[in-house]
Amino acid sequence: MKEDFLKYQAQTSPYPLALQISHAKGSYIYDTDGKAHLDFVAGVSACSLGHCHPKVVEAVQKQAETYMHVMVYGEYVQEPAVAYTKLLASLLPPSLETTYMVNSGTEAVEGALKLARRATGRSQLLAARHAYHGNTMGSLSVMGYEERKSAFRPLIPDVGFIRFNNQDELEKITDKTAAVILETIQGGAGFIEPTNRYLKKVRQRCNATGTMLILDEIQPGFGRTGKLFAFEHYDCVPDILVMGKGMASGLPVGAFTASNELMSSLQDSPKLGHITTFGGNPVIASACLATLKEITETQLIADTLKKEALVRKLLKHRLIREIRGKGLMLALIMENAEIANHVILECAKRGLILFWLLFEPRAVRISPPLTMSAEEIESGCGIILEVLEGYKQ
Ligand SMILES: Cc1ncc(COP(=O)(O)O)c(C=O)c1O
Repeated sequence: MKEDFLKYQAQTSPYPLALQISHAKGSYIYDTDGKAHLDFVAGVSACSLGHCHPKVVEAVQKQAETYMHVMVYGEYVQEPAVAYTKLLASLLPPSLETTYMVNSGTEAVEGALKLARRATGRSQLLAARHAYHGNTMGSLSVMGYEERKSAFRPLIPDVGFIRFNNQDELEKITDKTAAVILETIQGGAGFIEPTNRYLKKVRQRCNATGTMLILDEIQPGFGRTGKLFAFEHYDCVPDILVMGKGMASGLPVGAFTASNELMSSLQDSPKLGHITTFGGNPVIASACLATLKEITETQLIADTLKKEALVRKLLKHRLIREIRGKGLMLALIMENAEIANHVILECAKRGLILFWLLFEPRAVRISPPLTMSAEEIESGCGIILEVLEGYKQ
């Protein structure tokens, strides 16, 4: 099957890990040789409730037997998406009331950028250096890493960049700027948190210039950092909130949320300002609803911070320079990229799944399901320490 995989499925790197999957359950992925792999990555922060969570599976099965797709986004009243967006609104600040559901994170970013341009009548977009917002043309245009995008130029015009956490550069936000888009915690760059009330200052500058603030919470959202959304840590409410990944606990989805007034600008001039066939799909929306209920009706969010503390307590080693991030969005920053590669590949052989970050080669990603138990975290951290002990410089 591996040969067919390499031949018939388009590849994104010359050396895919090519683990051959049999099935997955809870915190484990099982390969076709019957080996169990403890999953410290959760499909890159997507499987928030682990693999095949019974409540998500039940919701999906029930909806799949009822109706799966009946109309394009927004035309018909479909209970799963209505119930979901209503519950989400009840958990967000009042200005984040209306949600547009799409099919992926990058598509949610596209929608948010379009909404900001449409609502302000301005074109300029500002993003952060080393930002990652996805891979479609708009998202790529606001990616802050030239090496990954130059082959695809020309991208969308009137995009500028500021340094994340640099307050001096906030002057670049002017009354010509439609939107500033930031990851609340920078992911690909190395799990970098905003410091010194940075986001609050961005918010103030956006207020002064009539600029929309878009926060991309595709990775930190849905409890991963110990709050439902990470912006709650930093006292800064965006005009447009972008989400995805952990939202449906492993099914493809994204969304952007704004005030009802703002969102209504996609209804006219032109009408059908953003459309999609499958956005708000009832099966996916059922998974979203089951996931959100489970995250918010249990101790999972509060436990995330305890689990972070456990990882930080266990993973003390001379080769780990620092542990960045918050909650269960953590990155071990090693002395160099070679050690990071060694840890990821050696742990894989010993049945622990770790992964890289996009733009920080010294990083080892730890973003397990929120449902992972303390015992499983201890066992995974034990494997990392064993591998580090065995590393010969
Ligand atoms: C912060 C951030 N924005 C956007 C995206 C793109 O999401 P998707 O891969 O679902 O298009 C990602 C995915 O890694 C992300 O981490």
